[in-house]
Parts: sequence; C-alpha cells; structure tokens
Amino acid sequence: MKKLLLSLLTLIVASVSFANDSDWGKTGHRATAEIAESHLNKKAKQAIDELLNGHGLAFVANYADDIKSDPEYRKFGPWHYVNIAPDAEEYKLEEASESGDLVQAIRKCVEVLKSKDSSREDKQFYLKMLVHFVGDLHQPFHTGHSEDKGGNDIQVRWFNDGSNIHRVWDSEMINFYQMSYTELAINTKDLNKSQLKDIRKGELLDWVYESRAMAEDLYAGVENGEKLGYTYMYEHMPTVLDQLQKGGIRLAKILNDIYS
Ligand code: ADE
Ligand code: ZN
Ligand code: ZN
Repeated sequence: MKKLLLSLLTLIVASVSFANDSDWGKTGHRATAEIAESHLNKKAKQAIDELLNGHGLAFVANYADDIKSDPEYRKFGPWHYVNIAPDAEEYKLEEASESGDLVQAIRKCVEVLKSKDSSREDKQFYLKMLVHFVGDLHQPFHTGHSEDKGGNDIQVRWFNDGSNIHRVWDSEMINFYQMSYTELAINTKDLNKSQLKDIRKGELLDWVYESRAMAEDLYAGVENGEKLGYTYMYEHMPTVLDQLQKGGIRLAKILNDIYS
C-alpha cells in the first residue's frame, strides 16, 4: 500500500512539474505558426510544403514540446529559453550555457535549413524546432532570470487555482481567452507597411533583448503569492496577442530569408 501511494505521489509530482514546462501552450504556438503562414513568400511556401509533406506550420508547432519526455531528445530541453544575467549588457556566446539555449537553438535551425549538406531528415527536424522556438522567443518569460527558472518559481494564484507567472504567460491567459488558434490568427491587428517594417527590423539578438526588457517589466509587476485574474487579463492580454503576431511575422521573415 505504501509503495502504491509513493508511486502515485511520484506520478503526480512528475506530471505537475511537466505541466510547468509547456511553453506558449499548444494554442499560442499554433497561432504564431498560422500567422507566419500568411506572411510566407511563394518560394518559402513551396519549400516548406515539400519538407512537411503538405502539412502547414501550425501542424508541427508543438513538436519540440512533444519530444521533451523522450530521453533521446533530453539535450534539447535548455534550447527553449535563454537566461541572460540581469546585469549583463548583451548576450555573449562565451558566457552562454554550454548545454545550449534559445539563441544557439535558433541559429542552429537556420544553419541546418540553409546548408546544402544537411539531410532532408535533419531539415525536417530543425524546421519543426524553429517554428516552435521563434514562438518561445516571444513569450517574455522564456528570456527571464535563471534563478526563478524564468518565473516558474514565482507562485501566483490564477483566479482560484495555483499557478506561477511563467505559466500565466505560457497558457493561462490564452486558455482563458478561449479562442482557437485559427481564430487568433484571423483576429490579428491590421498593420500598415511601416509597422510591419518595424517588426521585421533587426535580427535575432534584437528580438531577444526586446523580449528580455518586457520580462523585466513583468517581473516588476508581480509579487510572489499574488492573486491574478480579470484585471491582469485585461491589462496583459493585448500584449500576448501582439507577441503572437510579432512571433509569426518574424518566423516568416526568417523562413523567407532562408529560402530567398
Ligand atoms: N523553463 C525552465 N527553465 C527555464 C528558465 N531557466 N528560463 C525560462 N524558462 C524556463
Ligand atoms: Zn514556457
Ligand atoms: Zn518551448
């Protein structure tokens, strides 16, 4: 009996810690991928269609999370986030995690997809990973502090349930909003040429710093143990929607550049 209780407890603890780690959430990642789809040029669309056997980007957007529990893919765990020390001015590869991080991950995906020497199988794998990682990059807490695991250790109440600030941003707000990923992709802001240009401006590290600055503001706006609900939702859901859209536009930019 004791043994049974112990294994039950282990199972519960394991599933709770796994749930803490699920990134934008399935809907957020698919929305970003679906938005990217509408910004792809012809060449990129064709190449991707061929690589993914006719499936769209949204279909593969959660692959990087799906493989997390497989020991064969454990080394990709740290690739979902990047923690730059708060006092560091910039990202330095020499000081970055040797197990990899979100910056090294996205660079690797682009390199494999651009290379004439990489296999079709590797290209398929790294394309699926890229779709997911560009989504992660736009969840501010994926560029948060290492000491609180990007906000995973900052406990909050989400309405009446226990949660943490990382999870609120990964999935609680998006789930509460109750739109499907296609509805989220359709209901994006209408952007003019100059706004689109602004979003596409810069490169990977600029986008990391933007996300990191957002995370700093969000850290300042929450206290451990705080109860969050309607007001938090009202204040921050517009930012979530903007981030999903920016992620989609930038993912398409990366892909259009690869296949140009
Ligand atoms: N998920 C797990 N650990 C993390 C960290 N250190 N930063 C951001 N997200 C994480
Ligand atoms: Zn996450
Ligand atoms: Zn992720």
